[in-house]
Amino acid sequence: MVNLCSLHLNPVNSQLDPIWLSILSPDLSQRVHTRPFHNSLESAQPSHASRLSRYHATTIDMPTNTAAWITGPQASPLVVKDTPYPSPGPKELAIRTKAVAINPLDFKIQDHNPPIAGKAIQYPTILGADLAGIIVSVGQDVTTRKAGERIIANAPGVSTGNSSMSAFQHFVVVEDSNAILIPDPLSFESAVVLPLACYTAMAGLFMPNQLGLSTAGLGDSDATPHPSGSVLLVWGGSSSVGCCAIQMAHAAGYEVYTVASERNRALCLSIGASKVFDRASNNLEKFIVEWLEGKITVGALDCIVDGESTVNACARILAQANGTQKVMTVLTPPQTKPVDGVEAQRGKSLLLSQILIY
Ligand SMILES: NC(=O)c1ccc[n+]([C@@H]2O[C@H](COP(=O)([O-])OP(=O)(O)OC[C@H]3O[C@@H](n4cnc5c(N)ncnc54)[C@H](OP(=O)(O)O)[C@@H]3O)[C@@H](O)[C@H]2O)c1
Repeated sequence: MVNLCSLHLNPVNSQLDPIWLSILSPDLSQRVHTRPFHNSLESAQPSHASRLSRYHATTIDMPTNTAAWITGPQASPLVVKDTPYPSPGPKELAIRTKAVAINPLDFKIQDHNPPIAGKAIQYPTILGADLAGIIVSVGQDVTTRKAGERIIANAPGVSTGNSSMSAFQHFVVVEDSNAILIPDPLSFESAVVLPLACYTAMAGLFMPNQLGLSTAGLGDSDATPHPSGSVLLVWGGSSSVGCCAIQMAHAAGYEVYTVASERNRALCLSIGASKVFDRASNNLEKFIVEWLEGKITVGALDCIVDGESTVNACARILAQANGTQKVMTVLTPPQTKPVDGVEAQRGKSLLLSQILIY
């Protein structure tokens, strides 16, 4: 279901599975044009549904498409209007979108118009980085996916400048390598929050030029196992990226210490953290350093990036511990070096398809 407002007001996934709850924009309802962005092709657009079934049957009659456009820099609200139906290229899939996630990236673009991947955004364009949906057609060279499959994908429309690859529309094209099957029990609404958060965490933890953690514990027979007692520090364990990072590092066999608020202690423990430090604590850094005594740190992943209070705190902690002196950050770290000898580096994402989710 593509219904941005109801996703905001009634995040079904947050009630079923609190791990993935916090990806939605706080004031989304004010950002989206009030004209209905039809939430179901069958119920809201019967003519679309019949056209779609004809398309399945004959591939003659193209369905139409509708998108939420951002018309210019910092334009608000988004404007819903007709958009060309995107035909998949040879290695691409056309997806009928069933759910989208709202990432901080989406509202940061709307608020600040930052350059993306080093380039100015060309307007009008379509936002949306995460989608879940059903494959409606595949390009001629696609062999691994087929029509009818339920998938999640990262939608790189803004970073590639190709708005047919953005999520906030009924039909989207993505590369076949950027689509992962959704396991049967998982709803579109629950699965859709995974792509960007997941691969941000995965890249920061496992890419060789980032923290480069070992994948031996994940069954990679070519990887060198990490020493026992290796601890990863995740700052912001209850955030979207933090929840993914805790689970991935834990699955890979690392001990995970995390910083979160007291209200999310149980959540972080339940997904694999072995220690949760209250971010409101006065002696936070001292406590963490004490608990790291005798351990080998494998670096820190700062999932929040609030200069002095997170990046620099991670750096100060690592500087007093034994092990990797590197903080990976989900946003650009402060320009000034936090502590001599400790590196702070912004993570670079990789494609979802390079990640083994299940
Ligand atoms: N989501 C993504 O895919 C993604 C990808 C790349 C970059 N980012 C960036 O990462 C940042 C967070 O995004 P998100 O989507 O992960 O946010 P989110 O899911 O909304 O998480 C926010 C949570 O982080 C915790 N938090 C806030 N300040 C903290 C601090 N100083 N120390 C520890 N925890 C803190 C709070 O939980 P508690 O109440 O438990 O403290 C808050 O609820 C944003 O700047 C975003 O642009 C996000």
